[in-house]
Amino acid sequence: MFEIPSVHPFNFAQLGYAIIDSEQLDQWLVFGRDAIGLHAEYLSEDTLSFRIDRHARRFLIQKGKAEDFTCLGFQIQDESSLKTILGILKKKKIEVRKGNGIEADLRGVGSFWQFSGPKGLKIEIFTDPILTNTPLTMLSEGFVTEEFGMGHVALVSKQPEKLVEFWMEIFGARISDFIEQKMSGVTLDITFLRMNPRHHSVAIAATRGLRMDPISKKIQHLNIEAKNLEDMTQAYHRCKQLGFEIAHGIGQHPNDQELSFYVITPSGFEFEVGWNPISVSESHWKQNTYKQISAWGHQPEISTKLSRWNEFRRGFFSLFRSEYVPF
Ligand SMILES: [Fe+2]
Repeated sequence: MFEIPSVHPFNFAQLGYAIIDSEQLDQWLVFGRDAIGLHAEYLSEDTLSFRIDRHARRFLIQKGKAEDFTCLGFQIQDESSLKTILGILKKKKIEVRKGNGIEADLRGVGSFWQFSGPKGLKIEIFTDPILTNTPLTMLSEGFVTEEFGMGHVALVSKQPEKLVEFWMEIFGARISDFIEQKMSGVTLDITFLRMNPRHHSVAIAATRGLRMDPISKKIQHLNIEAKNLEDMTQAYHRCKQLGFEIAHGIGQHPNDQELSFYVITPSGFEFEVGWNPISVSESHWKQNTYKQISAWGHQPEISTKLSRWNEFRRGFFSLFRSEYVPF
């Protein structure tokens, strides 16, 4: 495995918001509000928003054909850290665009800067989220955010070393640990990166040897953390009752020890609802390599022959597809 020394200051970034393009806003409303239990509001006919805390925006589902993530927003703690990041981007010759006022309003931030990140995903950085005291109407009691950010994302990449370098150089991320998982004769290497006390804000998965990317989406899954165990288990039952496919039933990861399940969103990528992961104490942390992705559970509930075949096909064709990396 690889280790790149982090020379940057740490703990100045956290996952802030996600923007998804989908043609299925009505299905997303049922998914987010009625299955997962989020606060939902239509900002316009073409834009659905979900809140999970005081941040005016955490998820934006915009009418569009991609059925995928288009932007990920990262909250940066102060102007000086923002300047540092903009300086690094300039040095790396990465083109940065300042968002306009209408775009910033939509995202619930005062201002933001955008650039092309891994796999062509737009990465946005901001320091000034708009907070609201408007009460949340949610089926869940609450989600863990604050200094931990809104959750984590996982990406599959054919160039994992470069993606790890990207998150370390731009966001000062540190490697928490690694998982090596053998499945159907292929070894998957996963690197978990933290930017704050959350065990990981980003995970990068890659096939060992011949690099393939069988995932047709820019992000394989996004995770949010329920405050209560019951909120997670009830969300699991609601997802099933409402007919959303469960990719993996409830189980526990060995590294961050989070209990979670994975459900397929209306756009086809996975959404993980978790509970009670450990947080990282910088002075005591010891980096480990784990040999399995789940300590128990996480049984596939939709492992049909057809979905395996589709993954194989996508993996094969990904060998001939180039993958955008910023540097
Ligand atoms: Fe996850």
